[in-house]
Amino acid sequence: MIQDDYKQAAARESLRNIRGKQLIGIGTGSTVRYLIDEIGKNKNDFSNSFFVPTSTDTRNRLSENGLNIVEDFVGKAEISVDGCDEIDPIGNMIKGGGGALTREKMVAFSSQEMLIIADTGKSVNKLGKYGVPVEILPFLHQKTLERIGEYYKVELRENGKFRTDNGNLLALVHTGLMDKPELVLQQMKNIPGVVEVGIFMGFASESIICGENSCIRKKYNKGKKN
Ligand code: 5RP
Repeated sequence: MIQDDYKQAAARESLRNIRGKQLIGIGTGSTVRYLIDEIGKNKNDFSNSFFVPTSTDTRNRLSENGLNIVEDFVGKAEISVDGCDEIDPIGNMIKGGGGALTREKMVAFSSQEMLIIADTGKSVNKLGKYGVPVEILPFLHQKTLERIGEYYKVELRENGKFRTDNGNLLALVHTGLMDKPELVLQQMKNIPGVVEVGIFMGFASESIICGENSCIRKKYNKGKKN
């Protein structure tokens, strides 16, 4: 599938951002799986690098490729690399389609830079078409869903059978296109039972977005939310 070629191209292109770095956060998803395989093919360049996985899937893939894994650290990782579900022109994103949003946000928050790798299908003018993944606690989750439902239509991934790596549920909140994603983020975060919201504002420092014939690099003002 052609979209997979673009993901793989973005993954390959990102190697030069991470070569020589010692502590590297690694996101989750199919684009990231390509990245891990690319790192695996260039293992000699990464013998002194340690990778922080954001999910079991990523940890397993790192391990299959014989790469060094570390699950806790002091200070900041030099960089985290991740995919996204949507990215807008200033680098704000929707993430969490793979259910790893909480760990992804924690690792990105603990990294000096966040590099996003994606295919052109992820580029949008306004966030929201995909819906916003929200991780919620199983305890009294119907109450949490009712509170979210006061604002937006909401559904549970796999009708509630899906569990995140943290043992929680994943909701998809249909916000529609968002004029002010920062307000939606606050609205959701204020609801008890919500663990994390897949709106990432001010996290990305650079993106590599690949499509037909080319990859485009773009830098963002990390920390600037809008
Ligand atoms: C996982 C994520 C992924 O980065 C996002 O879903 C994109 O996945 P893919 O690379 O498979 O298109 O946020 O929680």
